[in-house]
Order: sequence, then structure tokens, then C-alpha cells
Amino acid sequence: MRPGLLQLYYALLAPCVVFGKIDRWRIVSQFNIVRTSLIDNETTPLQVGNGNFAELPSDYKGLPRDTYGREVFYDIPDPKLKQATQWLISNPNRINLGRIGLRYEGVALNKSQITNPTQELDLWSGTITSTFEVAEKTVKVITQGDFDSDAVAISIESDLVRSGVLQVELDFPYPPIHSTQYKYEVFAGVYDFPLNHTTILSEDGTDRTFAHIQHILQETSYFINLRWPKETPLKLSRNEPPNSTAIIAHRYTLSSVSNTSSVAFTAHFSPDSRVPSFPAKIQDKNAREWNAYWRDGGFVDLTASSNPNATELQRRIIKSQYHVRVNSAGSGQPPQESGLMNNGWYGKFHMEMVIWHLAHWSTWGKQKYFDNIFPEVYETLLPSSIARAKSMGWEGARWPKMTELETGVSSPGDINAVLMWQQPHPFYLANLAYQAKPTRDTLQRWDKVLTATADYMASYPGLNTTTGKYDLGPPAYGVTENTPPNSTRNMAYELAYWRYGLDAAIDWKRKQHQTVPDKWVHVAANLALPPIVDGLYAVYDGLNSSWWNDTKLTGDPRSLIMLQGILPDTPAVNPEVALRTADKVWDVWGDDRIRGWGRPVLAINSAKIGNPERAIYHLTAYDYWKFDDAGYAIRGGDGGTPPPFMPGNAGFLLAVAYCAAGWQGSEGDAPGFPKDGSWDVKHEGLLKAL
Ligand SMILES: *[C@@H]1O[C@H](CO)[C@@H](O)[C@H](O)[C@H]1NC(C)=O
Ligand SMILES: *[C@@H]1O[C@H](CO)[C@@H](O)[C@H](O)[C@H]1NC(C)=O
Ligand SMILES: *[C@@H]1O[C@H](CO)[C@@H](O)[C@H](O)[C@H]1NC(C)=O
Ligand SMILES: *[C@@H]1O[C@H](CO)[C@@H](O)[C@H](O)[C@H]1NC(C)=O
Ligand SMILES: *[C@@H]1O[C@H](CO)[C@@H](O)[C@H](O)[C@H]1NC(C)=O
Ligand SMILES: *[C@@H]1O[C@H](CO)[C@@H](O)[C@H](O)[C@H]1NC(C)=O
Ligand SMILES: *[C@@H]1O[C@H](CO)[C@@H](O)[C@H](O)[C@H]1NC(C)=O
Ligand SMILES: *[C@@H]1O[C@H](CO)[C@@H](O)[C@H](O)[C@H]1NC(C)=O
Ligand SMILES: *[C@@H]1O[C@H](CO)[C@@H](O)[C@H](O)[C@H]1NC(C)=O
Ligand SMILES: *[C@@H]1O[C@H](CO)[C@@H](O)[C@H](O)[C@H]1NC(C)=O
Repeated sequence: MRPGLLQLYYALLAPCVVFGKIDRWRIVSQFNIVRTSLIDNETTPLQVGNGNFAELPSDYKGLPRDTYGREVFYDIPDPKLKQATQWLISNPNRINLGRIGLRYEGVALNKSQITNPTQELDLWSGTITSTFEVAEKTVKVITQGDFDSDAVAISIESDLVRSGVLQVELDFPYPPIHSTQYKYEVFAGVYDFPLNHTTILSEDGTDRTFAHIQHILQETSYFINLRWPKETPLKLSRNEPPNSTAIIAHRYTLSSVSNTSSVAFTAHFSPDSRVPSFPAKIQDKNAREWNAYWRDGGFVDLTASSNPNATELQRRIIKSQYHVRVNSAGSGQPPQESGLMNNGWYGKFHMEMVIWHLAHWSTWGKQKYFDNIFPEVYETLLPSSIARAKSMGWEGARWPKMTELETGVSSPGDINAVLMWQQPHPFYLANLAYQAKPTRDTLQRWDKVLTATADYMASYPGLNTTTGKYDLGPPAYGVTENTPPNSTRNMAYELAYWRYGLDAAIDWKRKQHQTVPDKWVHVAANLALPPIVDGLYAVYDGLNSSWWNDTKLTGDPRSLIMLQGILPDTPAVNPEVALRTADKVWDVWGDDRIRGWGRPVLAINSAKIGNPERAIYHLTAYDYWKFDDAGYAIRGGDGGTPPPFMPGNAGFLLAVAYCAAGWQGSEGDAPGFPKDGSWDVKHEGLLKAL
């Protein structure tokens, strides 16, 4: 269980210092997020933060599929074991650790009592300031977070605090029943099952500067640890008797016990009861850490551009940089699709998405956030991935698709079970790590993961006795998940990526002067090539050119676009065919059908094929690709996944750096921006992409 805690940050005085060549503070502050109306469950809340069970349904074994003439069991949903399958899909899951709000005249403050609301997120210091009126009295709330622990610091200022009618309220929800209905959870948690969990007031804070509540639910137990300054003492009380069956059974009140109009406290969540830092310490430290975040690593300044699209592009860049720091900078694990805001896919992450979520850390010169996750997540998942490959009859490590760190189970699913493109990712990521730090240490650190990855990639393909080549699948699903899994063989992108991966594996061993397994070399050299039909790449083998008229396939042909750009040069891809294919995709893939991370991959491909006009067209297609007022990327299309769509923000950043700093072998500055005089692209601290 990995709690999705929204964490919060604090401001110092706005610095007016110029760092590097670009006046970063001026540009960042221009995009502070200001709201003047209340939000509801359809709006993304503003965030502060630091980026971070049940019976075993052991009857479930998956379902068999014929694979290269052999029966192999895949993690496909078993209609005879619906409950066990669903349990495995939805567990373990993330929970909401707690809600902190206000109480007025003894009950939860409600919307209709609030007037004149204004909320501002100061990006440079990671501070949210909310002001509003209750009963014609001003209330000011400042919310900040801690980069180093799961804690928020909150200050409240109002005459209503002095008179005692305004207090703080804490509440603890329970996870909803994880049926398919709750695959996507907005504001994770429900209040329907008060007797299924317990909260205990273990320290109320009398004559102290701290208090604790313990929350126990099934296998999980944790504490919320509160702390306040000695000068403005608080007291914690429970609103309802311990065995209350009321919907408000787990509500608590934190009230001022001194004659003061302002209070401040730290709310810290941890498995054990601890005395957390004073709020002032967190406020001070985290403002400094946010400032450092903005000063360190890469920056892009488009503000001198005359192009009318430049300001919105700059806004998206700045806000995306903020959101990835809050949602995608965890330790040892990638973010889930909607970051730490809501639960998508039961709060699990997807291994095929890690590049879209996290590669930007490297090209934006913020390698430490990348290194906090890689290769550790693969090391954690290695034993279960080796076991998975073995049980299916292959060597090495077969990486999961939708998963979590506790069990490493690959959530059952028709697509999940046979998706392939997560498998070569470690090579791409390792090459990014090596580019940032080309040392022996980097080579050694990744070696174990890469060796196991390559062993599987050399073991899995099936020798086609007709062609003498190694084939991939069936069964198989490709990037766009829209081909018939039982008959899809040799998908263009997957083949090219497989080849790239095996070549990278060989190169990694050679760099270390180690022996290269013959099998890797043999399979790499004899892998089938991506299918070409009438001079253009086709999604998979066996199609004829009429597939360009098949709307099921052309509704999303991004896998062909990925052959160049996001996929670095490989002998498996012919650049001339790839260029013709990119132009054909431009003709058939209409704006209104491009969604998710489609624009970033199109921009990267367009830049790579020497078409910067098209690259920036995609990055500025604002009518189709929306970011909301707070700068959260919107996925678009079907799916109904809750906001924000973090791979949208993160993939956007990757594409911007690709266009601004270029890629290995690119020439000239800002090769992905048109040279029409309307773009003035200043950048510093970025790395070229692979
Ligand atoms: C928001 O709340 C309303 C009213 O409770 C509900 O009908 C709606 O489905 C909710 N929307 C989301 C996205 O949860
Ligand atoms: C909100 O507060 C007002 C004023 O106290 C009250 O009349 C109303 O019933 C409350 N609404 C809810 C949903 O609690
Ligand atoms: C709550 O507990 C009861 C009694 O143990 C159990 O039957 C029920 O399934 C639980 N509900 C949830 C949502 O866990
Ligand atoms: C709450 O209920 C449990 C189980 O019925 C009982 O053991 C416990 O004593 C009750 N606690 C209180 C404070 O009433
Ligand atoms: C509380 O403080 C206010 C303003 O300083 C003062 O007017 C009032 O008398 C104080 N009340 C008590 C009970 O000390
Ligand atoms: C081997 O490759 C040929 C040519 O691509 C194809 O027609 C045939 O179906 C493949 N064989 C198997 C067993 O997949
Ligand atoms: C794939 O084949 C299996 C039988 O091997 C069948 O049960 C399943 O429905 C097929 N899937 C599709 C999508 O046709
Ligand atoms: C091309 O493929 C389509 C769809 O599989 C098929 O219906 C058609 O007969 C094929 N055309 C030729 C000339 O093979
Ligand atoms: C696609 O359909 C159009 C119109 O129906 C036709 O003219 C064209 O030849 C078809 N293209 C292919 C590659 O089958
Ligand atoms: C702004 O972007 C849109 C969408 O890409 C494009 O149609 C328009 O021409 C752009 N404006 C300029 C001045 O480049």
C-alpha cells in the first residue's frame, strides 16, 4: 500500500536574483496559479508535495495461449475465477491517508458558508495561499509541504480562530470496495464503512506540542503525528464515541487553546508514532528546496519569442515542471497515471509508461530524480520477474505491465498479459543514465538488470523455420493495443525496439570488457525486420496496404511514429521508409483522434525527420490538446481515467527538451523549432536526447 499523500510547500521572500543566463524567477512567477472560485470534484485541486492486501487468490493460474507451438500460461482474466482475478487486479492499492479541513461553529465548514475565495499557488516556493470570508470575517490559510517526509505545514489566520468558532477538522476515509466501479477513484476514499476501520486518539496534546492519532484498517496501520509551536498551543479531540456508526465516526477536532488569531501545525503521516518538525522548520526548509529545484538543471525560456503561441507553451512548460516535482519524483517507484492526486487503475503504475513519465528528468538535467527511481524499481521487481519468465518457460526477467512494489504481480488483463514494449525499456533508461554519467559505476549499477532483461529478450522470440528469422508473438499486443492478439506477429515497433535493446545489451557488456552471450548476438542479428508494405512500415506482419483504410488501426497509428525519434537510431529501421511512413501518418491521423501522449511522440518524430514546423504544430495544437488552468495535462478521448494525466505533462517536457536541445547527432540549436524568426529559444542545462 503506497499512500497518495498530497504534500504542500512554503515561500520565503520572492528572490530577485538572476541564475544562469535566464531570469528564471521572473518567468516562473509569471505563471503562478490563481483561482477565485471554489472547486468541486470535477476540478483538479492545487497540490504541494514531494513526489512519493487480503486472502491470496492462489487458485488463479492465468490462461493458456499457444505460443510458438507450446502452451504457455499468461496473466489473462479467468472467467471461472472472476473474484480472484478482480482481487489480483485491484490489490494492493493506494489509500487516502486523511483529510484536513475546517470546522465552523462545531460542524464541517461547507461551501455555502465561504465567500470571496482566492487561491494562489506560488510556483517558485511551492506555497498555496487561500483567502476567503466566513461570516464576513477573513480567513487566510497557507499550505506547504515537506520534500523529505510525508508532512504538510499549515498556518491559519483569522479572528474566527481567536473566538474559537473556527477550528481544524481531521477525517479518515476507508478505501472503497475495489470493484470495477472503482478502477478510477476521484479523491480516493469513502466514509461508508465506519466499523471496518478504527482510529485511536493516542495523545491529545495537553501540555505538549504534539498529538497522535492511529488509523488501523485491515493490514495497514499508520499514525498522523501533529506538532505545533509552544506559543500557540492546540488540543486534539475526537468528535464521536469510539464505536460510533455515524458517517462522521472518524472525525477529530484540533482547536486553539490560547487567545490567538493565528495557529500553525504540522501534520505528518508515518507507520510509527513520532514527534515531527515544527511547522516553521518545514516552511523554511521547503521554500529553500523549491527555490533550488527551479535553479538547478534545465530551463527553457521562450519569452522573447514573437510567436503568439509562445506564452501558452511557456505556461505549460513551467506548470509541468511544478507538477512532475510534486507527482513524479518518488523514491524507488514510478508514478501512477494520475500522480498523487487521484487513483487511476487502482493506483498501480504501468511499466510500459515509465519512459513517458520519467525520461524527462534526465534530458532536463535533473538526473537525481531519475536515479531515485532507476534502476531500483527494476531491482525490486527482478525476483518476481525472473520467476514469471521461468514459470512461462523462458530465461531472464519478463517485466510486469500494471503492477506495484509489494508483490510485483502483473495485474491480470487481456492486454496486460501480452503487451511487449515494456520489456526493452531498461536499455533506453540505462543509456540515458550513462549519457548523464558515463562511468564504470553506472555500467555496474545497471548490469544485473540489463543482463536479466536481455536473457529474456534472447530467449522469448520464436524461430520461424520458414524464414530462419526470430519472430515476436503471437500472442501479442502492441503499443496501440488495437490488433488481434491471437494472430498478431512481428509488430514493427516491438521488433525494432527489441533489436535496439539487444544491441544495447551487447554494447553494455563490451563497454565492461565482459563476454557477450552468443545467444544475444545471434538473436539480435536474426530477428525479423519490421514489416514493410508498398514502401511503408505496417503495424504488424501479414497486413497488405489496405490496412491504411482500416479505421481500427489508423485510429491510432502511433507505434509507427515511434520507430524514429523516441526510438534512437537502430539498424532495424530504415530512415527513408520511416520518413515516408511519418508523412503518411500525418495524412491519415486526424487532430481530433490524437490524444494522451500522442502529441509528444509526434513532435519528437517530426523534429527527428527534419520537420520542425510539424513538431511545433503538434506541441501548440491547443484546441485539441488541453491543459487546464492549473497546467495539468488532460488525456482526452475515451477511458474516463481521473485527472491529471501525468504522462501528458511529462511527455510534453521530454518533447520540449528534444526540440530545444536536440538528440544525439542533431545539428544546430533548437532543431525542433521552426527557423521562421518567430521563435526565440533560450535554454540552459538540458541534455540531448538519445
Ligand atoms: C462529483 O460529485 C457528484 C455529486 O456527488 C457526482 O454525481 C459525480 O459523479 C462526481 N464526479 C466525479 C468525477 O467523481
Ligand atoms: C451548509 O451550511 C449552511 C449554513 O450553516 C446550512 O444551512 C447547510 O445545510 C449546510 N449544507 C450542508 C451540505 O451541510
Ligand atoms: C466490513 O466488515 C464487514 C464485517 O466484517 C464485512 O462483511 C464487509 O465486507 C466489510 N466491508 C468492506 C467494505 O470492507
Ligand atoms: C467497541 O466495540 C468493540 C467490539 O464490539 C468492543 O470490544 C469495545 O469494547 C467497544 N469499545 C468501546 C469504547 O465501546
Ligand atoms: C484576547 O485577546 C484580545 C486581543 O488581544 C483581548 O482583547 C481579549 O481581552 C483577550 N481575551 C482573553 C480572554 O484573554
Ligand atoms: C513464418 O514467417 C512467414 C513469413 O512471414 C509467415 O507467413 C509464417 O506464418 C510464419 N510462421 C509462423 C509459424 O508464424
Ligand atoms: C484467443 O484464443 C483463445 C483460445 O486459445 C480464445 O479463447 C480467445 O477468445 C481468443 N481471443 C480473441 C481476442 O480472439
Ligand atoms: C488485404 O487484406 C484485407 C484484410 O485482411 C483482405 O480482406 C484482402 O483480401 C487483402 N487483399 C489482398 C490483395 O490480399
Ligand atoms: C482506400 O480506400 C480508398 C477509397 O475507398 C481507395 O481509393 C484506396 O485505393 C484504398 N487504399 C488502399 C491502400 O486500399
Ligand atoms: C499556433 O498554433 C496553431 C496550432 O498549431 C497553429 O495553427 C497556428 O498557426 C500557430 N500560430 C502561429 C502564429 O504560429
